[in-house]
Amino acid sequence: MNYLAPSILSADFSCLGEQIKSLDAAGAHYVHIDVMDGAFVPSISFGMPVIRTIRPCTKRPFDVHLMVKEPSRYLKEFVACGADMITIHAESCVHLDRTIEEIREFGVRACVALNPATEVGVLEYVLPKLDMVLVMAVNPGHGGQKFIRYSLEKIRKLRRMIQERGLDTDIEVDGGVTLSNLGEILDAGANVIVAGSAVFRGDITGNVKAFLEAME
Ligand code: DX5
Ligand code: ZN
Repeated sequence: MNYLAPSILSADFSCLGEQIKSLDAAGAHYVHIDVMDGAFVPSISFGMPVIRTIRPCTKRPFDVHLMVKEPSRYLKEFVACGADMITIHAESCVHLDRTIEEIREFGVRACVALNPATEVGVLEYVLPKLDMVLVMAVNPGHGGQKFIRYSLEKIRKLRRMIQERGLDTDIEVDGGVTLSNLGEILDAGANVIVAGSAVFRGDITGNVKAFLEAME
């Protein structure tokens, strides 16, 4: 099954709660929440107080993408704030296996993100422990960047790895996704679609519905 996970990084923060309710009402499956620490990535976005505040706005799963150095320091707090799935970056953990295990012990879904330049082979041994892999199609740090074309090859490679091992791991794609490149991203083997600016620019409800229709 395909899932849409709009990234609230591109939302209007002056009415964030209302915008999340619009995503939910329009049928978006997850809420993608980009946490940036100003160290792993240049920008700082938002953290626990914001997530805690928006948790009552929807029952949809919170897909929390941690662009944070050594995220193991904060896992407990993000779970307490209402994260249903936690994505850590392979590049941000010295002990990736241990951090994945910690996420699983908290009983939430465990996901690993790969920056554009990171080879999918880094997941060779940990893949069976993951519910989802996030392929970054831009260098993380900002919304509204251009999709990096070689990400399609990485998605295909990863889908082959998953199939060869008889797993059913989700593949999420994040960065530069639009209605124009959505078809080839799904064809390559991704099934969880993050979209920030393409959902929040203009009519949120109309944009979510257009994505969902194209993903059927
Ligand atoms: C990038 C973030 C993305 C980003 C997506 O660092 O992880 O989730 O907000 O935004 P768009 O869809 O505008 O590229
Ligand atoms: Zn993200």
